Amino acid sequence: MNKYDSEILMGLLRERGFVPTDDLESADIALFNTCSVREHAEARVWGQVGMLKKISSPLDFVQKTHKIKAGRTPRPTKKIVGLVGCMAQAHKEKIFDKLPHVDLVCGPQNIYNIPDYLEDIAKNNKRILAVDEKERPVDRENFSFRDKTKNPTAYVTIMEGCNNFCSYCIVPYVRGREKSRPPEFIIKEIEELLKKGIKEITLLGQNVNSYGKDFKNGYTFINLLEDTDKINELRRLRFITCHPGDAEVKMFKAMSKLPTVCENLHLPIQSGSNRILKAMNRKYTREDYLRKVDVLKKLVPDCSLNTDIIVGFPDETDEDFKQTVDILKQVKFDTAYIFKYSPRPYTQAAKFEDNIPQKIKEERNQELLRLQKEIAFSNNQKLVNKRVGVLAEKVSKKDEDYLIGRTRTDKMIIFKGPLDLIGKIVEVEIKNVSISGLGGEWIGL
Ligand code: 5AD
Ligand code: SF4
Repeated sequence: MNKYDSEILMGLLRERGFVPTDDLESADIALFNTCSVREHAEARVWGQVGMLKKISSPLDFVQKTHKIKAGRTPRPTKKIVGLVGCMAQAHKEKIFDKLPHVDLVCGPQNIYNIPDYLEDIAKNNKRILAVDEKERPVDRENFSFRDKTKNPTAYVTIMEGCNNFCSYCIVPYVRGREKSRPPEFIIKEIEELLKKGIKEITLLGQNVNSYGKDFKNGYTFINLLEDTDKINELRRLRFITCHPGDAEVKMFKAMSKLPTVCENLHLPIQSGSNRILKAMNRKYTREDYLRKVDVLKKLVPDCSLNTDIIVGFPDETDEDFKQTVDILKQVKFDTAYIFKYSPRPYTQAAKFEDNIPQKIKEERNQELLRLQKEIAFSNNQKLVNKRVGVLAEKVSKKDEDYLIGRTRTDKMIIFKGPLDLIGKIVEVEIKNVSISGLGGEWIGL
């Protein structure tokens, strides 16, 4: 979602004539699009923005003698520094206290105004705090700019915000309540992307199953999947992410029936212990989860399954943790993203004592990582000698003779092949499995 927001921002800025650069030192403007979902993500931003202090100074960047030509953004003589996104929304004006060289603090709901804010800052030598919009406008087009024009995959946001209030999660407080984008804007955006050579679309929402509930006209996520699937040039459709409480059989049926929808689901379980799930306010039990996975596997037999897990939630006992280990072994996820719990501002869980020592969180994290590596390896081993369709995405950084692509089940695969395969779906025979993924041989188109 953050990546998509950065692309929107890039598009908006380019429309106004700003030019991107990789050289932070010489840039006139440095914008940090931030995530606040975990403490660790924030720590990196505090550090990186802090480093910029040396090469920028607050508020005096427009020289007194600078002539501002009508209708043009003056070139500031000192860098403008902006902190954008969820972290801005979470910490608001406190950011200026901590990082006095920051000129713009702008929450995710206000990103469409950023070009105006930047011009205002440059012209009027001021500081801007833009964190009060409650909702982001959804009935508009996004002219997002994608830097890697060659990569044939793209994200498209279908909804903003979340109403679930899981007790550990800051998202509803920084991204606001659920708001769906009208389907016509989504479809138009996808059509534009396909014209540019994109082959695979991933629909984005904190909880895609809630899509359309705010329209009150009966249009649902399933309808959106059906309408998107009908678009002629689209080859692959994915979506992320689902709340296990809301993932319905109807959706699994749509996955099995619609040709472009890929056989892969991200279904974050968070914990295998019912006691912890309750404290997390997840509103499902491990039994509910397992039942849903069973139905999914029956309806979409080759479906791969990804998940998210939090270890070290307040009061998580060895027994609770064992239940999580157990569910990993039982479900045999293809990918599990494992996080150490960190308390987040505004959340219910922040009121609980963060009483699992860092050392235990680390041990539990390592144990799950080790176990998951084995499971993924063994899942992948079953694919050896199978032929699969792979969308060739990019050249390998390590060796330019090799391409990297993904299967419909979202598995990365590396294979030798010419550059002009990028953007095509090709047949690859899986030859070997390593810790980092699959290796294969290109068979043909
Ligand atoms: N601490 C650790 N992990 C968290 N996540 C969300 N909030 C927290 C938190 N406070 C994880 C969840 C979520 C993923 C995006 O980040 O697993 O699914
Ligand atoms: Fe956060 Fe829960 Fe909403 Fe996901 S469903 S964004 S974890 S509140």
